[in-house]
Amino acid sequence: LDGSSEPKYDLVVPGASALLQSLRGVGYSPWAAVADLIDNSITAGARRIHVNFVWRGPSSFVRILDDGHGMDQTELTAAMRPGSMSPLERRSTADLGRFGLGLKTASLSQCRILTVISKKNAEVTARRWDLDYVAQVDKWRLLVGPPDESGDEAQIPEAFTSGTLVLWSRMDRLVGSAPHDDPAARARFFETARLVERHLAMIFHRFLEGARPRLQLFFNGEDQKSRILPWDPFMQLHPATSATPAERITHPNGDVEVQGYVLPHKDMLTPDEFEAGGGPEGWLAHQGFFIYRNRRLLVPGGWPLLGTGRKWTRDDVHRLARIRLDLPNSSDADWKIDIKKSAAVPPSELRPRLRGLAERVRAHAREVFAHRGGRGTRSPSEVIRAWTSTHLEEGITYRIDRGHPSVRRVLDAAGDQRRVVEEMLTVIESTVPVQRIWLDTAERGDVPHAETSDELSADLSVSLRSLYMYMLGELRLTSTEARRRLLAIEPFSRFPASVCSLPDTLG
Ligand SMILES: Nc1ncnc2c1ncn2[C@@H]1O[C@H](COP(=O)(O)OP(=O)(O)OP(=O)(O)O)[C@@H](O)[C@H]1O
Ligand SMILES: [Mg+2]
Repeated sequence: LDGSSEPKYDLVVPGASALLQSLRGVGYSPWAAVADLIDNSITAGARRIHVNFVWRGPSSFVRILDDGHGMDQTELTAAMRPGSMSPLERRSTADLGRFGLGLKTASLSQCRILTVISKKNAEVTARRWDLDYVAQVDKWRLLVGPPDESGDEAQIPEAFTSGTLVLWSRMDRLVGSAPHDDPAARARFFETARLVERHLAMIFHRFLEGARPRLQLFFNGEDQKSRILPWDPFMQLHPATSATPAERITHPNGDVEVQGYVLPHKDMLTPDEFEAGGGPEGWLAHQGFFIYRNRRLLVPGGWPLLGTGRKWTRDDVHRLARIRLDLPNSSDADWKIDIKKSAAVPPSELRPRLRGLAERVRAHAREVFAHRGGRGTRSPSEVIRAWTSTHLEEGITYRIDRGHPSVRRVLDAAGDQRRVVEEMLTVIESTVPVQRIWLDTAERGDVPHAETSDELSADLSVSLRSLYMYMLGELRLTSTEARRRLLAIEPFSRFPASVCSLPDTLG
């Protein structure tokens, strides 16, 4: 190549001190910042992650330790570089990153010294950005090793064959210069820690769910009591939750999956369930779309750009409506994913479909909320039905409620086969023999057997016991609670004597 064809240029290198300082202004909340680091740990294949908030006055620190694949020295130095990877680069389908910035921006938004220590192939490497040092020399100098004043907190435990430890120290934003024995500052610190914990339970709930979760997250402790339990926004385990079928919407850069949920009326919940259902920010805030990217929650509610004319806002009558929306990481640009991973905007071509679904879920939620009679409304005296009817402009449609415990159980157990089960349900729903039933009952005066029998058939008895066992075993309900719920679930609601005589334990 002929070098003379190069255009004339000035070399402009960003000012180290000014740029690192400006990156602090991206506006992370403490939980969004911690979540960004957990993204990195998950992408690195971690199965266990420990988050610790340690109060020591001005020397307080936060530490995030994972057992992922770790980094060698070259990789660590590259990782510490702002802009370590272009957002235009194609990422593996499970990668939670995009911008090559999170580790630096999230951390430096909370602290003045970011230390990363990583272990790979039995070698431990440590590097750190120290904002005060960079300000002093105004050069892009990444320091080698952990800070002099650090102790055990900068050690990867022996038991880890590989992994990464991120240490935030000199936490000017959260702690400042508050002395060790300042009770107000200490209380603020732990209040923030508690909020971080609650948000992590929400943001990563899909990774923490199930009998054998993909990820274990420990918060300020090593024992099982310190494990963060998932917060499920959809109350899927509650029998009074109803759900629409999961729908796939195709898009050239990656398909989207959506499913609407209407949560139980307050009267159907115990005070504890109601309190828990509100989540970290409360019932009003957590309504609408929950947008996930690679199963990691980005947006915990809201009605993004869906209203025609007037914007839809969060209001009380729609607070029981929550819609799951799953995105792949191949459509980040279409959805305008931001650096903090806390915003996503539906592309205009998808809005009509999303609006249609949202309108249906909102209408149902309004009815449940207002406690009026009719479809889907569930007051304590009413039962959870396997079939729901929806009145649309085109006419009435009958659908199987995905939230009915017997249906839910099959969908959960189906795993990768879930799609096939959904297809079957759709076939059944679109072939309800309405005419036939109408003829049989109206013309011949026959009443379907199931409606009148006052004795539990042998088949139903088996179903009842099996669902009861599921509630005791998988859902971990007490026998009293399980029986109470069965009394409100069709068809068992019609056989209270059989439900009440279920023994406390089943062999
Ligand atoms: N805990 C970790 N274990 C292993 N590698 C890590 C870890 N944290 C960061 N890395 C490496 O450092 C790189 C930079 O991380 P950083 O969070 O800054 O950017 P990113 O994850 O690529 O994108 P984003 O800005 O969207 O988070 C990652 O791509 C990864 O290769
Ligand atoms: Mg990242």
